[in-house]
Amino acid sequence: MIGLFDRLSRPLLRALDPEDAHGLAIKALRYMPVSRAAPDAPELAVRAFGLNFPNPVGLAAGFDKNAQVPDALLRLGFGFVEVGTVTPRAQTGNPRPRLFRLEADEGVINRLGFNNQGAPVVLARLAARAREGGVVGVNIGANRDSTDRAEDYVRLIETFAPVATYFTVNVSSPNTPGLRDLQQASALDDLLARIVAAREEVAPRSGPTPVLLKIAPDLTLNELDDVVGVARKHRVDGMIVGNTTISRPAALREREKAKEQGGLSGRPLFKLSTRMLAETFVRAEGAFPLIGAGGIDSGPTAIAKIKAGAALLQLYTGLVFRGIGLLTEIKADLSAALKRGHRDSLSAMVGADAAEITAETWPS
Ligand SMILES: Cc1cc2nc3c(=O)[nH]c(=O)nc-3n(C[C@H](O)[C@H](O)[C@H](O)COP(=O)(O)O)c2cc1C
Repeated sequence: MIGLFDRLSRPLLRALDPEDAHGLAIKALRYMPVSRAAPDAPELAVRAFGLNFPNPVGLAAGFDKNAQVPDALLRLGFGFVEVGTVTPRAQTGNPRPRLFRLEADEGVINRLGFNNQGAPVVLARLAARAREGGVVGVNIGANRDSTDRAEDYVRLIETFAPVATYFTVNVSSPNTPGLRDLQQASALDDLLARIVAAREEVAPRSGPTPVLLKIAPDLTLNELDDVVGVARKHRVDGMIVGNTTISRPAALREREKAKEQGGLSGRPLFKLSTRMLAETFVRAEGAFPLIGAGGIDSGPTAIAKIKAGAALLQLYTGLVFRGIGLLTEIKADLSAALKRGHRDSLSAMVGADAAEITAETWPS
């Protein structure tokens, strides 16, 4: 049903205001029957952060900010779903329009600003589906007007530990002024110390919930040295590389739309985010697995991310332009690549090209 809806409705969705189209897609997933995707081929299974993933392709944060449809998304065949970003209190976000499609570039610029219904509403939804199983991560962030941002993260860990399969600490959204400063070494050191302590505190009741750190692709390499060092010091379970970029690659064709403020995602983000992923992989030295996100829109780009260092993948913008068929295509291409290489798991591919990528000229 959803596959058919997807094919019929994509031209319609693309004709709508991008935010209205997103609202309609969530409604469709909520109210239309979604039949379960075929079981995943066993060679696609991944074990990371102490969790079992049926396949490595996840849905990135920002699509289901309020945890309205995680189970429909899992049924469509995602290996995992990340809900949020959730903040302690509800927020309306920035004034509309705040979401822009760069059609010719297959990119999106968003300055939503953590619009979400707040922790209590999202918690109730996740508690109601807690027995369903599947990997459902919760991406957490601070309220825009918070006076103690670290405290917001701690409260969210305490609140969501019973229902989150993993946490993502989002310190990389460009749309909450000052948020990305939490990536600076001393602020991050303090933040992760408090977050890990909170996680340990609730672990006897909730189990050991993995904590991942999601970073911006705009860090300098010196900043990345510090971030990976601090993440390793606090033994975070993994990192997501990464969020949207505030940079505007020279090759963008939609020059007018490119002037909109906000974070750029999709195809124009692929090169930068893949370079940052490889740079993170060589610095992490196997201390923890990485999730690669940014511009995955085909089987080959998914494979390139894995070879740059990703044990798991996340998609968002590619789905806007390619539809849900992208998920099926990527899984089929991953299986075919494994068969060609006579391998029974993706693990040997992870980071195979990382060193080579870090020696290339910097993507412009
Ligand atoms: C409309 C939109 C909203 C997003 N909202 C969030 C968010 O709330 N939290 C977050 O960590 N990332 C958010 N992201 C970033 C994505 O999770 C992802 O990291 C980024 O878009 C790169 O992947 P992509 O090129 O496949 O879209 C958002 C992205 C888009 C396009």
